Amino acid sequence: MAVIALCSASGSPGVTTTAVGLAIAWPRPVLLIEADPVGGSAILAGWFQGARDHDAGLLDVAFAAEPVAAALDRVAIPLRDGVRFVPGVRSHLEARELGGLWGPLADVLAGLDAAGQDVIVDAGRLGMADSPRLLLERADLTLLVTRTDLPALAAVRSYADLVVRTRAWKQAGLLVIGPGRPYSGRGAAKLLGLPLVGKIAHSAKDAETYHQGVRPRARFPKGAFARSLHATAGALHQRTSLGTPSTTALSAEPDGATDVAQGRVPGPGAIWATAADRRQEQA
Ligand SMILES: Nc1ncnc2c1ncn2[C@@H]1O[C@H](COP(=O)(O)OP(=O)(O)OP(=O)(O)O)[C@@H](O)[C@H]1O
Ligand SMILES: [Mg+2]
Repeated sequence: MAVIALCSASGSPGVTTTAVGLAIAWPRPVLLIEADPVGGSAILAGWFQGARDHDAGLLDVAFAAEPVAAALDRVAIPLRDGVRFVPGVRSHLEARELGGLWGPLADVLAGLDAAGQDVIVDAGRLGMADSPRLLLERADLTLLVTRTDLPALAAVRSYADLVVRTRAWKQAGLLVIGPGRPYSGRGAAKLLGLPLVGKIAHSAKDAETYHQGVRPRARFPKGAFARSLHATAGALHQRTSLGTPSTTALSAEPDGATDVAQGRVPGPGAIWATAADRRQEQA
């Protein structure tokens, strides 16, 4: 099994870039589905650099005469060897029409495993009207993606609380972009109460390759960004194929945890606690 959905709370942390990067680094054939209700297809505009028309996508699957599985197969286009891509809606207005698709689509995606295929879903931001809630709930692993600065953690916190409290997702995990900037992945995970299942190194330059289709620089394959995507893809694949939560460390990339442990940088929880103390004192 492996349907993995990625989403964020706010601030464009890099969901789409990471979804493309993970699909390319994925160890077996994978279907990348763009289910962000914002529309406009960031991947056709980015990875494909607008050179490919938005001929067909999820809306066509929703209104196809044939079964969802056949329609999905028809609209999927190659993104790279072993990676097929299903474009999302052309506009946010079209996203309103997808409400009835998510359930049947989740059924079909769950069955793709038998055909040796995994699925990665870019579900965009949580809380949007027409968000693909059912895909998030029925994915084998649903990843909340965030940066590690305080504004990002503040924004994601209430969503993490909700996910933990309601257990709405089958298996929830945290994927951090830019561990150690300034807080460690482990610090963020502890604060949010979610297991840390991925860490993607920060590299504005290398991210452009997957975000905008920019030609990779010579050192791209050996850089921290590509290595962290490979390590995370491998760990996520292992985690979902085994069907059990894994506590293994995900990559050898430093994530700032040492700085926190040695007291050079306070953990995000400590910052909030201090801020709360200050407020109490002022009251
Ligand atoms: N690992 C990374 N390191 C540095 N920059 C990154 C990284 N991943 C993505 N970015 C950059 O962050 C910006 C937003 O990326 P992206 O569009 O993938 O985010 P998103 O979460 O999908 O946003 P939205 O919610 O608007 O869809 C882009 O400029 C992209 O190049
Ligand atoms: Mg996006």
